[in-house]
Amino acid sequence: MSTTEAHTDLPVFDHDFVQNLHAGFDRIRAATPVQRMVTRHGLEVWVITRYDDARAALADPRLSKKNDRMQEVIQAKLPADADRREFVDGLLEHMLNMDPPDHTRLRKLVVKAFNARRVEGMRSRIEEISAGLLDAMAEESEVDLLDAFAFPLPIQVISELLGVDESRRDDFRAWTNALVDAPDDSQQAAVAMAQYLVQLIEAKRREPADDLLTGLIEATEDEDRLSEPELISMVFLLLVAGHETTVNLIGNGVLALLRNPDQWAALVADPGLVPAAVEEMLRFDGPVMHGTFRHTAEPVEYGGVQIPAGEIVWVGLASANNDPDRFAEPGRFDITRDAHGHLAFGHGIHFCLGAQLARLEGQIAVRHLVERFPNLRAAGSLDDVQWRFSTLMHGLQSFPVRPGV
Ligand code: HEM
Repeated sequence: MSTTEAHTDLPVFDHDFVQNLHAGFDRIRAATPVQRMVTRHGLEVWVITRYDDARAALADPRLSKKNDRMQEVIQAKLPADADRREFVDGLLEHMLNMDPPDHTRLRKLVVKAFNARRVEGMRSRIEEISAGLLDAMAEESEVDLLDAFAFPLPIQVISELLGVDESRRDDFRAWTNALVDAPDDSQQAAVAMAQYLVQLIEAKRREPADDLLTGLIEATEDEDRLSEPELISMVFLLLVAGHETTVNLIGNGVLALLRNPDQWAALVADPGLVPAAVEEMLRFDGPVMHGTFRHTAEPVEYGGVQIPAGEIVWVGLASANNDPDRFAEPGRFDITRDAHGHLAFGHGIHFCLGAQLARLEGQIAVRHLVERFPNLRAAGSLDDVQWRFSTLMHGLQSFPVRPGV
């Protein structure tokens, strides 16, 4: 008997919940600090809903990220998915699925190559890529903001940063989409991506370039290096994490701005407000994740609720960032508020490695949009948007807009 059948009384993280995310989390958070819930795959999880608990949980060493432990739990509860899971395991052996000391070792190696200098070095390319995409948008009376701008910008940036051939960038988009959103196609996508990454790493070994992938190949720490499988899973992580997230930062953020025309007008009048606006966009409707998973290595207690060992804990980032005990009137989108301390990039040892890059891309994207298209409007009803149905990502299915030039 599946957990879904066993616990029909538990709230289910289903299509309706995703469409009304904030109302659902508000209801649950007001009722309890920790709520047992069922995911769409029938997995039972313990959702941490309040800010203080979420922040503490993200930094709690008793809550493990380790993939094989998590996989055991998932496979035990989800036998139908076992084959697919086993197959993509290699790619998932990356640092976001590891605990110290393995995590510490990999993170040290990757920050040697993926550092502030390299990100800052991308600034003028991000400006150029963004401006080029907006040039093309200006030709249209109506476009999908996601297709025309929010998707291509981060994929092009992360591909250039890594040194992925231009000809393969459409494949990358298809693969990452399949991995995140289409479980039935994800096995095939994982194989295709892994095969390509093997070739790419070989090519960079033969001909080193001034890119992140070469940096990762050459990164050393006390004579330690990334092995071949570690390189592949690291690049896989960077591509998926660096692509699907920034898209939603732009999409969800522009939605919030257009739903609050006074805030849009304030940015048009003073683009100097953009960095603060991006933080509020991250807090208000962050791109990842509805939640992020951990596994209890031992029994823990949160908000007075006992969670036994061996359970899956889901830290509700979207819920924590809208907790009225931390952010006054959280449902009000206000680009002048102090949104610092939001958990959109996580917290603790797994704090987002790409936060600096994501902020840079988000800030350039929003500044370019308000400067170039001050009369940007939604083409459809702003009350009737459709959210993608994903357990991890919080993003729109599409976002038709009129650039208004
Ligand atoms: C980790 C959010 C963009 C690379 C994380 C985590 C969050 C997050 C919440 C921690 C997950 C956890 O603790 O379970 C975001 C958001 C982004 C974004 C909201 C965009 C707005 C990026 C970009 C990159 C990236 C652009 C890379 C190019 C990573 C990596 C980790 C990570 C490598 C794992 C770090 C570790 O395990 O030590 N991200 N991310 N992210 N992110 Fe991001």
